[in-house]
Amino acid sequence: MENKLSRRNWMKSSAALTAAAAATGPMALAQSPKNIVISSANGLQASKKAMETLRSGTDTLDAVIAGVNIVELDPNDHSVGYGGLPNEEGVVELDASVMHGPSRRCGSVAGITGCKTPSKIAQLVMTETDHIMLVGGGAAKFAREMGFKEEDLLVEDSRVAWLVWKRSMRDRAGHTNWSGELEAGPKTARMQEAFPNVDKKTLAWAMDVAVHPPTGTINCLALNSKGEMSGVTTTSGMAWKIAGRVGDSPIIGAGLYVDQDVGAAGSTGRGEENIRIAGAHTIVENMRHGMTPKEAGLDALKRVSRNFRDDKAWLSAIDIQFYALRKDGMYAGVSLWNVDASQARRRPFFAVTDGGDSRHEPCVTLYDR
Ligand code: GLY
Repeated sequence: MENKLSRRNWMKSSAALTAAAAATGPMALAQSPKNIVISSANGLQASKKAMETLRSGTDTLDAVIAGVNIVELDPNDHSVGYGGLPNEEGVVELDASVMHGPSRRCGSVAGITGCKTPSKIAQLVMTETDHIMLVGGGAAKFAREMGFKEEDLLVEDSRVAWLVWKRSMRDRAGHTNWSGELEAGPKTARMQEAFPNVDKKTLAWAMDVAVHPPTGTINCLALNSKGEMSGVTTTSGMAWKIAGRVGDSPIIGAGLYVDQDVGAAGSTGRGEENIRIAGAHTIVENMRHGMTPKEAGLDALKRVSRNFRDDKAWLSAIDIQFYALRKDGMYAGVSLWNVDASQARRRPFFAVTDGGDSRHEPCVTLYDR
């Protein structure tokens, strides 16, 4: 098929497009490119791994995917890949997208089940098909065809959190279908009775995520010294979502966008609000028109705020962050709020690797809680 690029042709066309972009790139910036990786806060190890991979001369997209694979495979990260919190039916459904600057190609999967590393499947959609997005059963079938065996992604802690969430549900009259409702004692004690084999720390976490469903995600963006850029965003999406809900992460232009003539951007947090402003594309376009990464990200946050008529009380249930990396290596992380909605006083950070080790830097924030 004419459009279809095999992996070998894709690499060849990448090189040609990189040369063309270098000759005709619309933005002339003072600094020359350097190796740099930025990521959401949960990406300290991922960005370090991506940097090591970049330094070995590997393609920028392979580098960021190698980075986020660490988090996708980590059963203790409950917002991404294996170990992610499930939908309301107890099924872990994953979303991911990739975008490769040199070839200007992208791929994504949404609502995929049974595969721990959806970023790899998104890359295969990009390299092995002439489509961009596969969803649900079709995405899972494609993964099997590409040699990924079906795996159970629901770990024990996530299963307990799902059951705690179900127990926390009440109808308008305050009724629950679960036992224990009428027993005396504070809620924590009742939950401990319901889950006698679960330790206190896990139960406290489960009760927190039951009430404040997280939308954690990892976004990772890379620039190399040749000026090539790529990005990936991967997530288990919003905890307890309706089966089939798709967030921003697999939506090219919302959860991720890369134009290596300009820069790259990605997002974590409440996907619905990001989709409404096409955040990552907005940020890249802002940078194309001269904004710094910080200005471009803050402008995107202001667009989110505008959709809530700038009403801070209304916005208070939302958490959203953007990450922006410009083609000259300038970068920023921005967050709607200075602490997250669970009121756990977690300051928003993002991960940066431009030397050996990764470090956290604070996000610039739009509002204070
Ligand atoms: N940003 C992840 C999601 O909303 O699914």
